[in-house]
Amino acid sequence: MRRIIIDTDPGQDDAIAIMLALAAPGLDILGLVSVAGNVSVAQTTANACRVLELAGRRDIRVYAGCTRPLRRTPITAAHVHGRTGMDGPDLPEPTLRAQPQHGVDFLIETIRAHPPGEITLVTLGPMTNLAVALAKAPDIAARLGRVVSMGGAYSECGNITPSAEFNMFADPDAADIVLRSGVALTLVPLDVTHRFLISARRLAQLRAMPGQCAQAAAAMLGFSERFDLAKYGWDGAPLHDPCTIGWLLAPELFGGREVNVSVEVSSPLMQGATAVDWWQVTDRPPNALFLRDVDDDGLWNLLLEHLARLP
Ligand code: BDR
Ligand code: CA
Repeated sequence: MRRIIIDTDPGQDDAIAIMLALAAPGLDILGLVSVAGNVSVAQTTANACRVLELAGRRDIRVYAGCTRPLRRTPITAAHVHGRTGMDGPDLPEPTLRAQPQHGVDFLIETIRAHPPGEITLVTLGPMTNLAVALAKAPDIAARLGRVVSMGGAYSECGNITPSAEFNMFADPDAADIVLRSGVALTLVPLDVTHRFLISARRLAQLRAMPGQCAQAAAAMLGFSERFDLAKYGWDGAPLHDPCTIGWLLAPELFGGREVNVSVEVSSPLMQGATAVDWWQVTDRPPNALFLRDVDDDGLWNLLLEHLARLP
């Protein structure tokens, strides 16, 4: 059983990543931590609660995390995800509430309470919470088994600016702290997620599934695709965050390399751009497993099989 914490800014694709994790028998979710990203932290916290209620998992606790990036002016992606951040399905107001403990303190306490190497942290939004936790408690870097993060880009450049992926752009200073911290890190960048497209055929498969989670996932994707289909002009919009959980469950579906990754924090034009030393042209040591390939049919089948297990 792999113990994980999911740090997230739901976000339709975050919600589907959470559902995938909830459906995986080999994953034990110790808690969800919210962060400001796609929308405000108040909204991402409520959305995290909504997903757990939808899946009948009120036993999993939610902790509200950081309300804004370390130093930058907050941005959102409400233009993609809608006013609530999770527009699409008509989900009721959640009755589940976040715990009183701050998400950063929950991270520190939980990582310290488990044997070194036991906990995997999955980040699906800006890395603010982890960066603050590392600053407050540097010992957790060596205690974390692995961090798996959706963020960055190599060949795909950017999706929020010409040069940067959204999670990296929103809080590059936090990403910089994480990349320099020595944690074992897997990065799931746009290079992967831009190959995991939800075509009309795949969306129809999801819509044909009976469960309320699958139905909500279909409604979420139906909403978020509207923007992305027009933006990219592809046969389907990318489904980003579930690729992280997909890698945990079936790493054989992905390809990548241990490389050095740095993030740009100084230049306004390149803010949040990831410099990936794919060809090892520097002497900077590897600090991340950077994924670039995915068997997208394999990943889609994995996602469908898992969603079919949820209510
Ligand atoms: C990332 O940005 C967010 O909008 C998505 O939820 C995903 O985490 C993709 O760049
Ligand atoms: Ca996200």
